[in-house]
Amino acid sequence: MTAQASQLTSAQEPAAVSPAAPVIRVEGLQAFYGAQQVLFDVDLTVMPGEIMVVMGGSGSGKSTLLRHLVGLSRPAAGRVELLGLDITRARSMEMLALRRKIGVAFQGGALFSSMNVLDNIMLPLREHARLDRKTMEIMARLKLEVVNLAGADALMPSELSGGMLKRAAVARAIIMDPTLLFFDEPSAGLDPTVSSALDDLILKLREAMNMTMVVVTHELESAFKIADRITILDQGRILLVDDVAGVRRSDNPRIQNLLNRRSEETEVDAQAYLQRLTGETPTPPAATNETPEAS
Ligand SMILES: Nc1ncnc2c1ncn2[C@@H]1O[C@H](COP(=O)(O)OP(=O)(O)O)[C@@H](O)[C@H]1O
Ligand SMILES: [Mg+2]
Repeated sequence: MTAQASQLTSAQEPAAVSPAAPVIRVEGLQAFYGAQQVLFDVDLTVMPGEIMVVMGGSGSGKSTLLRHLVGLSRPAAGRVELLGLDITRARSMEMLALRRKIGVAFQGGALFSSMNVLDNIMLPLREHARLDRKTMEIMARLKLEVVNLAGADALMPSELSGGMLKRAAVARAIIMDPTLLFFDEPSAGLDPTVSSALDDLILKLREAMNMTMVVVTHELESAFKIADRITILDQGRILLVDDVAGVRRSDNPRIQNLLNRRSEETEVDAQAYLQRLTGETPTPPAATNETPEAS
């Protein structure tokens, strides 16, 4: 009895104590387009249930990294491991099985304009699962409910707003109940209210379905809201991987530059424009003629 009990505990202990293994592990990833190298020695790990946000300026390699993470591009060097499978060496049958566990909502991943919302969302099911139409419809309607599009099933994509289109794309990405979900710029081109609703949806998915996510975004507010950790790419190299607080307090000027980019861009541009017009350095605003006591 006692022996049995102690056997039970010792059998349970290792699982409880050992830390979870990463679900995404990238080591020494290098990527090229022709002769141009765009990723240099990228290392990255993502833990189960984690939301990893990837940030960086335009052209820094975010989309290229994502394409490698989902196996759409083969690395020139390095390893990409998803759910324990080294996808740089995986056989096509293994890749197929893995793809069923991955949901992808990419920037250009629009819906097919010739199909209604329901048929669009059922597409991955038709590709990967052998189910009768009725079952697939029910599964698709459940996912439409998750993304707050219940009732939009018969609409054509042209009848949806920008925010609805994105949410439909998310519904399609989660139709197979993926373990891993990848987003490329989910809120690009959306107004702030809609993009904030999309952030809520991302958080809700993680909560309800315990998905692990990699989200590429250049929206700072969005990144700070959803991220467990943030990876910052700069010209194909990882500049920093840290949690939100760590990114905020980083004193790396390139990171500060990225964080302040928007305000900085407008300020610098206005000043440069003025300089170009006047051909001289603008003088700081003088307080002299503004003082009421002067006259
Ligand atoms: N299909 C392609 N062919 C050639 N160069 C590309 C291609 N896609 C991206 N690039 C280049 O690779 C670099 C990284 O691009 P990308 O990964 O799209 O960056 P980001 O998503 O951060 O804006 C950029 O310099 C870009 O011009
Ligand atoms: Mg991109």
